[in-house]
Amino acid sequence: MKEPQHSSASLVLRVGILGTAAIARRSILPALLSLPDHYRVVGIASRSMDAASALVNEVENAPNHGTGPSQIKPHGSYASLLVDPSVDAVYVPLPNGLHYEWVSRALRAGKHVLCEKSLGCTLQETEDMVALAEANDLALVENFQFRFHHQLQVLREWTGLGGHVASGGTDSSKEGSAEVAKSKQGDGLESVSVHEQDETSKNVIGDLRAVRCSFGFPPFPDRDNIRYQKELGGGALLDAGAYMMKIAALLMGDAIQVEAASLVKDEEYGVDVHGGGCLVDPGTGVTAHIAFGFDHYYQCGVEVWGSKGRVRTNRLFTAKANVQPVFEIETAEGGREERVLQADDHFVNMLRHFHSVCVSHQPEKRAEENRQNRLQARLLEDFRAMAERIEGA
Ligand SMILES: NC(=O)c1ccc[n+]([C@@H]2O[C@H](COP(=O)([O-])OP(=O)(O)OC[C@H]3O[C@@H](n4cnc5c(N)ncnc54)[C@H](OP(=O)(O)O)[C@@H]3O)[C@@H](O)[C@H]2O)c1
Repeated sequence: MKEPQHSSASLVLRVGILGTAAIARRSILPALLSLPDHYRVVGIASRSMDAASALVNEVENAPNHGTGPSQIKPHGSYASLLVDPSVDAVYVPLPNGLHYEWVSRALRAGKHVLCEKSLGCTLQETEDMVALAEANDLALVENFQFRFHHQLQVLREWTGLGGHVASGGTDSSKEGSAEVAKSKQGDGLESVSVHEQDETSKNVIGDLRAVRCSFGFPPFPDRDNIRYQKELGGGALLDAGAYMMKIAALLMGDAIQVEAASLVKDEEYGVDVHGGGCLVDPGTGVTAHIAFGFDHYYQCGVEVWGSKGRVRTNRLFTAKANVQPVFEIETAEGGREERVLQADDHFVNMLRHFHSVCVSHQPEKRAEENRQNRLQARLLEDFRAMAERIEGA
């Protein structure tokens, strides 16, 4: 299949959106509109023409949309948007259970695809979608925007892993030496603002020994939320649990394996609502201890524990653009201190990255995304199988 015809001089990608999802409205559309040199939103599709038109209207009246005649076409079906030759790339924020159908159809129609997590509901679905993207030489990126927040690079530096995590869109101006402002707090905890990457803080924890992650939130008030619908690919594993697999792989590498797993099902909904387990790197014995769900007191925590210290974060997956993440560091030599990092917009960074995967003609970028797509799907599949095995034992 042919490469989509971008508006080539400026390489502005013409993007269409499948579904009027909350995440599209709240986060992705504003980020797309903030990048006029990279993207032009040309279509929004919904199962309902009224809903598509309403969102087009909302976007065109947004403060950062600019002026001029309407350029976004509403579509009353997803199929209608996919046959539009003026669309180069699509963003798919549909329920997980519909990703396979619509990502496959988009790739067959010659569009690059940015798909929300979880890309597939099974390993086979993801394998098929990746094979289709490869056969058609198209970009297929599963959206975990936290990969592109500056704080992940800092965490990797401080845990001795190196700062580069296939996050091509991250502003290179953030690299370099640190400007660190310190202030003593009453409780003896030292608070430090890190404005640039702190070279002096590299590998503060010694050798990596273990990772602990928790991501969970209270039940959703609406019973018809997509996360409670079995037939739409609901459940906590493909939702909050997916972040656990991703961060474990980003911190511990491709060799990790699922060692123990538990998934607890809600009998009324028929989907898993919480779970936990352990992943291990068989080469080093380093473990990741994970817990996730949506029947919980809110937690978004990642702790990296090493031979000489530990780093704990409080917003690794969910830092809003105006939030300065706080890292708590404890070492045998330095005691305890808090570091306040730069705010960053991971949605914007992620979209810069997706743009470069689509237009840069660097095959290694697409290959890296497909490697990550497959690894993530393999971990999710192994986790579910292990949970079923342990439950049935
Ligand atoms: N990256 C992140 O931070 C993040 C955050 C939240 C969610 N997500 C992911 O984004 C996706 C959407 O999540 P969301 O919370 O935004 O969902 P949502 O608000 O419920 O939106 C899902 C959209 O899918 C369309 N849809 C098609 N068939 C549907 C059906 N049978 N039932 C319900 N909706 C249907 C609807 O659009 P139309 O009616 O207009 O066709 C709906 O607006 C999921 O894959 C989720 O995991 C990612």
